[in-house]
Amino acid sequence: MIETRANTKKLFIKTYGCQMNVYDSDRMMDALAPHGYETTLDMGQADLVLLNTCHIREKASEKVFSELGRLKELQNERRALGGDMLIGVAGCVAQAEGEEIARRAPVVDMVFGPQAYHKLPDMLVQAEAQRHLHPSLKRAVIDTDFPEEDKFEHLPSAKKEVTIKRGLTAFLTVQEGCDKFCSFCVVPYTRGAEVSRPVAQVISEARGLVEAGVKEITLLGQNVNAYHGDDKGRAVGLGELAYLLAEIPGLERLRYTTSHPRDMDDALIAAHRDLDILMPYLHLPVQSGSDTILKAMNRRHTAAEYLDVIARIKAARPDMALSGDFIVGFPGETDQDFEDTLRIIRDVGYASAYSFKYSTRPGTPGASLTDQVDEAVKTERLYRLQELVNAQTTAFHQSCVGKTLPVLVERPGRQAGQVGGRSPYLQAVHLEGSTELIGAIHQVEIIGTSTNSLVGRLKVKAAA
Ligand code: 5AD
Ligand code: SF4
Repeated sequence: MIETRANTKKLFIKTYGCQMNVYDSDRMMDALAPHGYETTLDMGQADLVLLNTCHIREKASEKVFSELGRLKELQNERRALGGDMLIGVAGCVAQAEGEEIARRAPVVDMVFGPQAYHKLPDMLVQAEAQRHLHPSLKRAVIDTDFPEEDKFEHLPSAKKEVTIKRGLTAFLTVQEGCDKFCSFCVVPYTRGAEVSRPVAQVISEARGLVEAGVKEITLLGQNVNAYHGDDKGRAVGLGELAYLLAEIPGLERLRYTTSHPRDMDDALIAAHRDLDILMPYLHLPVQSGSDTILKAMNRRHTAAEYLDVIARIKAARPDMALSGDFIVGFPGETDQDFEDTLRIIRDVGYASAYSFKYSTRPGTPGASLTDQVDEAVKTERLYRLQELVNAQTTAFHQSCVGKTLPVLVERPGRQAGQVGGRSPYLQAVHLEGSTELIGAIHQVEIIGTSTNSLVGRLKVKAAA
């Protein structure tokens, strides 16, 4: 027999893709908790399984359909034992493919996009009402509209216990959607136009997180530095918002992601100069180093303009570590275009970077371009690019050896007697020390590096 406590239902959310989705999954949990749902780590035990999907990665929808096939088997197993399992598909694949998902996978009870999360409890009631209908009569509940109303207003704010579970660091969505329309990208179609949360809402949620023990907040948005939140009729940018958040007692670190080079304005750069709380690590994708390709991508900036933004940021904050996104093999990319990309990587010197082979996203302007780059050429270019970036990442880690860095110690280490945390530059740092160190920023001398992380030693103040 299926064991469930009276009135308690089990929820399993599988999150794909970006940090925005991690945050959204947390908010879905928050929205469902008052309706008796608690999370389980065992998908087979779940009364409700939600797939929070991401459209940015290759073959996103195929992955969702194969997961749904697996879920159908789990659902059958549960039914054979007298239980049931409702299945929902959320996120960008749901937004983009809507009806098609319900048609191809009748096992799905709900399909809803990122704008509809606050309606989740209502959708569940509708889905549950159909539970005992013959499969041929069931209709999936579909909500993939872009409503005018503000979904942020309707979601319950992050509750204390939920936040503590998230630990010392938290994500806070301040902006959603994108108006940039890069020609390869689905985000403007799946997430819709840019919307910013009002300043007061952001500040109050940030205060709530800090009261619950959070020390580091990462502001999220698809185009986060295009933030223009309302403050009593006035639009406030991300730079000004950073100054306001810096006033919150107990908030020790602030980050934001993802930014567009066009929106790195003077106020935001000044905030990096003035605010210690704003961490010196910036994810600023350029995608390509070739002006021809940047134009075809509709990026709205040249390679030189990107380098100029970097120079201004470094003038304000000389130790700024940079990260980027790159696409290789965009239609029409020649050997010379690719060399230009390698050159901009050498010019900037990245602490880390994410790189992808171009793949067509249906419905984007890129999808109608014909001059496709051969798959083998894309593979070879990606390999060369990653080799260069990996060397830069290693060099960056090496350059930290011998320095003393403030490390926010967040968790026990992989081995007993060790703890782990993050440097200001988002590097993982491991050090010997007791779990009593967890929860605060400590001065740590960097004594070595290992793959993708730093090894440190707690700096003990010399006795007076
Ligand atoms: N092909 C390859 N990479 C893509 N990205 C977005 N769309 C595509 C696509 N069609 C990459 C971009 C973006 C990152 C999140 O994903 O580099 O910055
Ligand atoms: Fe996509 Fe470009 Fe908007 Fe980023 S800025 S979300 S890549 S359209």
